[in-house]
Amino acid sequence: MQREPQPIPRHVAIVMDGNGRWAKQRYMPRFFGHKQGVDALVRCVQACSDRGIEYLTVFAFSSENWKRPEEEINGLLGLVLVAVSKYLTKLADKGVRIRIVGDRSAVTDKVRSAWDEAERRTAHNTGIVLSVAFNYGGRWDVVQACRQLIEAGVGAAEVDERALSSRMALAHAPDPDLFIRTGGEVRISNFLLWQVAYSELYFTDCLWPDFDEAQLDAALAAYAGRERRFGDVKARSAHAGP
Ligand code: IPE
Ligand code: IPE
Ligand code: MG
Repeated sequence: MQREPQPIPRHVAIVMDGNGRWAKQRYMPRFFGHKQGVDALVRCVQACSDRGIEYLTVFAFSSENWKRPEEEINGLLGLVLVAVSKYLTKLADKGVRIRIVGDRSAVTDKVRSAWDEAERRTAHNTGIVLSVAFNYGGRWDVVQACRQLIEAGVGAAEVDERALSSRMALAHAPDPDLFIRTGGEVRISNFLLWQVAYSELYFTDCLWPDFDEAQLDAALAAYAGRERRFGDVKARSAHAGP
């Protein structure tokens, strides 16, 4: 019997959580976990691309992560520079298009220029779109989109879901079909709030540095088994949207 092809999400969003605990289990500093987390991300980009996923959006640093000790924050900012210099060429050569989403005003000049370079060098690529959420918060996103509308002089009568969506940080991507959180916590932690209205949610205890192809396939299998209705009474095509 011919099997139905499994629906593959167009857009996967991931809260990459659990780096600190992964390091702690190994009696290593938290930074070690973050470093391994970057490697896990690069592998995940490849695995998603191989499976035909068009958009991957990852939560790398939240608006609230500034509450962490200065040493950890500095480590994470430094890691951005290391990650860009180590992996940008490889990702660019593979056709990955990188976008950074979040408030860039608070990061250092060096980090800002690393982000700019990553976007510039991959701007014409046509492969998977990797959006890295850095200094990002779902609430920040809604507020900055509203500000843009006001600054553009959009009148109250013209403010609708489409107008707001077009100003959100992920306006370049369809809403996520599948939202994954690693690390065992079952919460959104101010990641994409507006955009996950109808995403399928998947939570796993796997700590982010351990997230590999088998873990991704388990999440994709769970997704394939979901019935998406978008408020209707019957199943709707996975990509029909609300
Ligand atoms: C996620 O891992 C990475 C960032 C938030 C930067 P954590 O650093 O939150 O790791 P845990 O949750 O403490 O294990
Ligand atoms: C969410 O993880 C942010 C990122 C993974 C970047 P946190 O570790 O900051 O979330 P909480 O504090 O457990 O909610
Ligand atoms: Mg955490």
